[in-house]
Amino acid sequence: MLSLSRIFFCLFCFRTAFAATCRLSPLGEGRDDTDQIEKAIAKCGQYGTTVFEEGSFNITRKMMWNLNDATVHMHGLLSFNPDIQFWLNPANTFRVVFIQNQASWFVVTGSDFVIDGHGTGGIQGNGQPWWSFFETRTREDGDGRPISLTLWRAKRAVVKDFRVESPPFWANEAAESQDILYDGMLVNATNTDPKFAGKNIVPNTDGIGTYRSDRISVINWDVTCGDDCLAIKGNSSNIYARNFTCRGGNGVAFGSLGQYANLTELVENVWLEDLTMTRIDPNVQPNMQNGVYFKTWTGSINGEPPTGGGGGPGMVRNVTAKNVHLDRVNLPLHIYQTNGGHSGDLPSEMTFSDLNFINWTGNVLRNTLVDIECSLPGGCSNIAFQDFEIAIPTNQDAILICQNVDGLAGLDAPCNATGRS
Ligand SMILES: *[C@@H]1O[C@H](CO)[C@@H](O)[C@H](O)[C@H]1NC(C)=O
Ligand SMILES: *[C@@H]1O[C@H](CO)[C@@H](O)[C@H](O)[C@H]1NC(C)=O
Ligand SMILES: *[C@@H]1O[C@H](CO)[C@@H](O)[C@H](O)[C@H]1NC(C)=O
Ligand SMILES: *[C@@H]1O[C@H](CO)[C@@H](O)[C@H](O)[C@H]1NC(C)=O
Ligand SMILES: *[C@@H]1O[C@H](CO)[C@@H](O)[C@H](O)[C@H]1NC(C)=O
Ligand SMILES: *[C@@H]1O[C@H](CO)[C@@H](O)[C@H](O)[C@H]1NC(C)=O
Ligand SMILES: *[C@@H]1O[C@H](CO)[C@@H](O)[C@H](O)[C@H]1NC(C)=O
Ligand SMILES: *[C@@H]1O[C@H](CO)[C@@H](O)[C@H](O)[C@H]1NC(C)=O
Repeated sequence: MLSLSRIFFCLFCFRTAFAATCRLSPLGEGRDDTDQIEKAIAKCGQYGTTVFEEGSFNITRKMMWNLNDATVHMHGLLSFNPDIQFWLNPANTFRVVFIQNQASWFVVTGSDFVIDGHGTGGIQGNGQPWWSFFETRTREDGDGRPISLTLWRAKRAVVKDFRVESPPFWANEAAESQDILYDGMLVNATNTDPKFAGKNIVPNTDGIGTYRSDRISVINWDVTCGDDCLAIKGNSSNIYARNFTCRGGNGVAFGSLGQYANLTELVENVWLEDLTMTRIDPNVQPNMQNGVYFKTWTGSINGEPPTGGGGGPGMVRNVTAKNVHLDRVNLPLHIYQTNGGHSGDLPSEMTFSDLNFINWTGNVLRNTLVDIECSLPGGCSNIAFQDFEIAIPTNQDAILICQNVDGLAGLDAPCNATGRS
């Protein structure tokens, strides 16, 4: 036993004795930092430490970091050069996020690593020219707008005290990853061009999405965006969110699910706690749609991914959303199975079960509190509310819609099974 532990000890000594540290400062205005960063990560990304000093590092091409037993202290910002036409060329981004064939300009993979932004470091996405450019163009899934930070096939990693400023598109995505903790993340997609005042010019700037991933924790987040602040997509399991603030946008989403007719999507064991959804100045961001919502494509197939689809089977089960505070949202809770559909489409056959909504407070701007539109008899089962106390505008009657729900508990008023469809 003694000799065995010595072997382990010496392996550890060896790694520590040769662990490298790389330090980087920005080269300065007009210079390109991509080369020096790639060199540093190649040298110190395995059993080493890389330190980015404060300041702005100019990134001009796609980067993939492979980190193993490594730490990155990022005091500065990776500033992605806003050459839109360059990034829209498919050769210039990675397409590692399978869903909708989305593009990534910065991918981190590997295992047992920490990226610490110390509250000042992270990514500057320089999103404003992108938002302005796409204002007059159709935004389509898979059109090449890049995800700012993609963790792909990463295991046992921590990203902390990290900011994503002005993401052109989704700020973060955890894809095909396990055991990831994101702790202390700031995402800010805020238009500053007065020309777009009062418009949501920043759609698709989701805070973070999870896809084909297990055991992902997102704690202490502050997201200002024009879309889903947290999007839990297909094959996400054991997702934990705590102390998550969403300023503007669509709220916390499950989905959209069921886009791929040939792929089953499972979402299970999700715990969300201490969520705040807050409306901000409507000149800055007019949208504050939901608290928590669940969306699937239709059962009918309309076209093919990345832009079309539907008909995918699957289920969402065992979800708890507890201590949710709403500040002037439109609709606290929504389940619908017709996203992207046309009238006459078949309903999705995705099912939802064991959903718990506990201690919801705050207020809404409209009078519908709950809109659960499950497509099939028994398509939704065991939906429980506890202390669901949200104020609606005065002199209005609350509307509660619950279609095709088996086993509904805890709402003070009857929920209308035959209401709107
Ligand atoms: C980044 O590098 C590119 C290529 O060298 C250069 O054209 C651009 O001006 C640089 N950007 C900044 C902000 O320095
Ligand atoms: C987001 O950015 C805008 C514009 O720069 C700024 O006014 C706002 O304070 C920022 N929000 C947060 C939460 O940092
Ligand atoms: C919640 O997260 C914010 C950062 O988004 C942080 O400033 C605050 O201290 C956290 N609150 C608690 C109770 O941890
Ligand atoms: C499912 O369909 C998509 C295209 O819609 C395709 O890219 C993918 O390879 C298919 N997957 C399987 C497992 O057949
Ligand atoms: C989700 O996992 C199931 C079971 O492993 C698999 O059959 C399915 O193809 C996966 N779906 C996606 C979107 O990866
Ligand atoms: C439901 O999910 C929670 C985590 O959110 C987990 O602790 C619990 O075991 C799950 N229950 C079932 C029946 O899977
Ligand atoms: C209910 O949630 C609010 C935050 O939204 C929290 O302040 C309060 O302590 C919670 N109440 C209970 C009984 O946990
Ligand atoms: C139930 O539905 C009817 C018909 O749509 C509507 O008039 C009524 O306001 C609804 N009641 C509730 C509590 O939602």
